[in-house]
Amino acid sequence: MKSIMSYLFLSEVICCVLFALLSSFALASDPSPVQDFCVAITDPKAAVFVNGKFCKDPMKATADDFFLSGLNIPGDTSNPVMSNVTAANVAQIPGLNTLGISMVRIDYAPYGINAPHTHPRATEILVVLEGTLYVGFVTSNLNPGNKLFTKILHKGDVFVFPIGLIHFQFNVGKTNAVAIAALSSQNPGVITIANALFGSTPPINDDVLSKVFQIDKKLSIMSYLFLGEAVFVLLALLSSFSLASDPSPVQDFCVAINDPKAAVFVNGKFCKDPMKATADDFFLSGLNRPGNTSNPVMSNVTAANVAQIPGLNTLGISLVRIDYAPYGLNAPHTHPRATEILVVLEGTLYVGFVTSNLNPGNKLFTKILQKGDVFVFPIGLIHFQFNVGKTNAVAIGALSSQNPGVITIANALFGSTPPINDDVLAKAFQIDNKLVDYLQSRF
Ligand SMILES: *[C@@H]1O[C@H](CO)[C@@H](O)[C@H](O)[C@H]1NC(C)=O
Ligand SMILES: *[C@@H]1O[C@H](CO)[C@@H](O)[C@H](O)[C@H]1NC(C)=O
Ligand SMILES: *[C@@H]1O[C@H](CO)[C@@H](O)[C@H](O)[C@H]1NC(C)=O
Repeated sequence: MKSIMSYLFLSEVICCVLFALLSSFALASDPSPVQDFCVAITDPKAAVFVNGKFCKDPMKATADDFFLSGLNIPGDTSNPVMSNVTAANVAQIPGLNTLGISMVRIDYAPYGINAPHTHPRATEILVVLEGTLYVGFVTSNLNPGNKLFTKILHKGDVFVFPIGLIHFQFNVGKTNAVAIAALSSQNPGVITIANALFGSTPPINDDVLSKVFQIDKKLSIMSYLFLGEAVFVLLALLSSFSLASDPSPVQDFCVAINDPKAAVFVNGKFCKDPMKATADDFFLSGLNRPGNTSNPVMSNVTAANVAQIPGLNTLGISLVRIDYAPYGLNAPHTHPRATEILVVLEGTLYVGFVTSNLNPGNKLFTKILQKGDVFVFPIGLIHFQFNVGKTNAVAIGALSSQNPGVITIANALFGSTPPINDDVLAKAFQIDNKLVDYLQSRF
């Protein structure tokens, strides 16, 4: 009894209830792994279920299958494009298999460029940690045809690159820049345009390329190539399998709009006329500012989902910034529609999730995370983070839904409107009705 009380006491959360109420619509393109998780394994003899890659026996899965360290370490930018992408996808974190999300850290020296490329299987949502980036994407051929959306991003700014569209980032500041980006696939793939066209094996026929670009065979191809030097080719080669549960918005994007009279297509929310979309529809600033942690749980979640960034509509991804005072807790909760991949920017967190009832039943996976460590919370499972350090902690979490929803367990059970019947709760927790009443009074 005592332990349930102290457990629940920690879970007193005001911030997340509103989110849960706002989260009533589902999105067909969010991932559904059909099991708690499926840790990737290369030996088919040891495999159990198959969905994407072979799965490790869930009884043998450990917290380390969902973990990666080192995302605090800058990549080496001494290369022709002066940028470096450090990946945290299923190749580095086998626990991401079937979960439809991954992360990258991108470093840019001054004037470094992440050259024009596409992710065939993922929308990207990027937050700038340091520096100043000029970013953009180009729509596909029709409606609006090949329109360029650009924006200058500063520290704390967030920008969305819709699935499959050509996009780039360019460090226009005088200092190094760093960004964390989340992608709505366990294995988004990269097609660097210049490399794919001018560096393929075997090469694309000269006549085809000269016709495509309306240039002389010897002309300007060389200078064009210079920009896209073979940095990301390896990534592209590694990206040959697709995942059925990745999102498919059926159009370039569908900026959410409240006024149905101004709407054009419908998929999830009403869409703004694409001709009227602007770069600001894909933009949010302020993720560099800490949330106020003076509340009972001493943590604060700042959201960057479709409610803040209408351009995320139908794209199946979003971000949060989480601040934790010392001993601050992001109380046990679930996201009914999203897997979460979290990177620690500052501090030390004790994190964990619990599997569902069967195979392995209600097993707790925990890990202490330091700066630069990455951890995965599979879709729908109860999870938490607790700041066990003596300083403030900060994390960026990416979620594989435009609107992941939050169900804070203690609030949902003991703080619902109207309240759940006392006898139901007393039976569920094997406690007496007086304690149920007490707990209900706290939420
Ligand atoms: C990126 O950085 C890593 C770590 O410093 C390095 O091993 C790798 O070669 C770099 N990649 C490129 C393309 O420069
Ligand atoms: C989170 O921080 C924001 C910004 O400081 C503040 O407005 C909000 O009330 C805080 N939420 C909670 C639950 O403390
Ligand atoms: C944080 O919230 C507390 C309680 O609501 C308030 O007293 C305090 O002024 C806030 N701090 C900041 C920096 O806004």
